[in-house]
Amino acid sequence: MIVKTKKLQGQVAIVTGASSGIGAGVAKALASAGAAVVVNYSSSADKAEEVLKEIKGEGGDGFTIKADVSKEEDVLRMFSETIKRYGTVDILVNNAGLQKDAKFHEMSLEQWDHVIGINLTGQFLCAREAIKEFIKRGVSPERSLSAGKIICMSSVHEVIPWAGHANYAASKGGVMMLMKTIAQEYAPLKIRVNSIGPGAIRTPINYAAWQTPQAYNQLLKLIPAKRIGEAEDVGRAAVWLASDDSEYVNGITLFVDGGMLLYPGFEDNG
Ligand code: BGC
Repeated sequence: MIVKTKKLQGQVAIVTGASSGIGAGVAKALASAGAAVVVNYSSSADKAEEVLKEIKGEGGDGFTIKADVSKEEDVLRMFSETIKRYGTVDILVNNAGLQKDAKFHEMSLEQWDHVIGINLTGQFLCAREAIKEFIKRGVSPERSLSAGKIICMSSVHEVIPWAGHANYAASKGGVMMLMKTIAQEYAPLKIRVNSIGPGAIRTPINYAAWQTPQAYNQLLKLIPAKRIGEAEDVGRAAVWLASDDSEYVNGITLFVDGGMLLYPGFEDNG
């Protein structure tokens, strides 16, 4: 048995949308676990460089790359650059995502397409390229017991309906079935595909939900653990799902939500 000093030592990870929020937290966590990390961003080059600087400051390795995950040519370039630089890819964290909220009857097609394009089509395009590479390489036991690992960033809203966010909730419901279907399709090839379903995590996407004490107290009503999540909470889950510690885990959503899915309204009602 090969004993690794770090769980992801010698592996290469692409993290999409890694310049801020959950993506940045996951990129740093994977790097601390020994992976070389490709820090993808779509517009914030400076923030991506900051993330890379932190990774390198801790002795890690990686590079930044601009790519819009909803554009096929950008995704192909991101994978070919990564393979040119490191020889292969072991881990994909399909994280890039956004919200464009609107009441449903006022939602524009542009708002719908934008969210579905990044959150769902983006995950399809990146997963497809990752799977091609995993099939080509197969299992190399000195790297990992799996031929490759994909972690899809979903949300509690893959199961909780969310008024005013139909595009976002539909995208995450889609991610759930995309993840499960490709997990089923490629499990025989030792490719593992799982999701993380974060609840409310302190990031720019939900700034309004935690920025004031009033908003924060309101938010806590939805979280039995009575604290907002941090990107590091998600980072630790990602390291576990990417590592051989979860080798027999395939096709699940690991909710990192402080119990948000436990029907918190029933704490004192019903
Ligand atoms: C959303 C956040 C929200 C959280 C819990 C996430 O998927 O992006 O804005 O705070 O779900 O509702």
